[in-house]
Amino acid sequence: MREILIVGIGSGNPEHMTIQAINALNKADVLFIPTKGAKKVELADVRRDIIRRYVTNPQSRTVEYAVPERRSSDPSYMRSVDEWHAAITRIYEELFLSELGEDGIGAFLVWGDPMLYDSTIRIIERVTAAGRVAFDYSVIPGITSLQALCASHRIPLNLVGKPVEITTGRRVSQSFPLASETSAVMLDGEQAFAKIDDPDAMIYWGAYLGTVDEIVISGRLDDKKDEILATRAAARERHGWIMDIYLLRKGADFEQ
Ligand SMILES: C[S@@+](CC[C@H](N)C(=O)[O-])C[C@H]1O[C@@H](n2cnc3c(N)ncnc32)[C@H](O)[C@@H]1O
Repeated sequence: MREILIVGIGSGNPEHMTIQAINALNKADVLFIPTKGAKKVELADVRRDIIRRYVTNPQSRTVEYAVPERRSSDPSYMRSVDEWHAAITRIYEELFLSELGEDGIGAFLVWGDPMLYDSTIRIIERVTAAGRVAFDYSVIPGITSLQALCASHRIPLNLVGKPVEITTGRRVSQSFPLASETSAVMLDGEQAFAKIDDPDAMIYWGAYLGTVDEIVISGRLDDKKDEILATRAAARERHGWIMDIYLLRKGADFEQ
């Protein structure tokens, strides 16, 4: 039976790769790399670098495939994601049938960890449910951008004994005051932090974490908002894309 390995590769630094992830890549016959778009080009370069550094299996080969863009004009976010996943499901089916033999092993190099704001597992489940190609699959964890953010700022994720919310820019702009003392915000295309008005909130922001272009800024949200907005806009202009993540925090350890 075919086997699919969903491998977390870390969030930009090739040294995030675990030994388990390296062994998984070396087990595969085919390494699948998504391409397309300015951001995808640089992320594909990180994946190629990982393969160059760690894959020693002479039998393996790389197959690049284009990922369609999600139709962001669709007024229903959920429907547009569902349609987008359906399109990628068909691409995966085709890849498995055309690139993998009946007992072939394929690996997806997934950014960060596959369980965090990533749909590879979901889409693989859809391919299984569609029943047109039989395979087994497993998941290998990776270092998330959230871990990379906390490490670069040298902070623990949670306050002592307190919960953490992991959310998106879209949600956090609707849910302030924060549901938890700590909110980790990902996928924020609208800079939701800039609209939050709270004199006690702290921000720990990071972009291109783990790469040579990493930028981090932290401090009181009110004091740092404008600096982050300006730094972000300039970096985005320079690279043509940006990936950033931040923590918003209120309170301190041992406060009731
Ligand atoms: C589709 S999610 C993928 C998350 C990934 N699975 C993980 O484990 O971090 C993409 C979001 O992750 C965050 N992200 C991923 N890599 C990052 C990096 N190197 N620097 C800053 N943010 C990053 C950003 O918030 C970005 O919008």
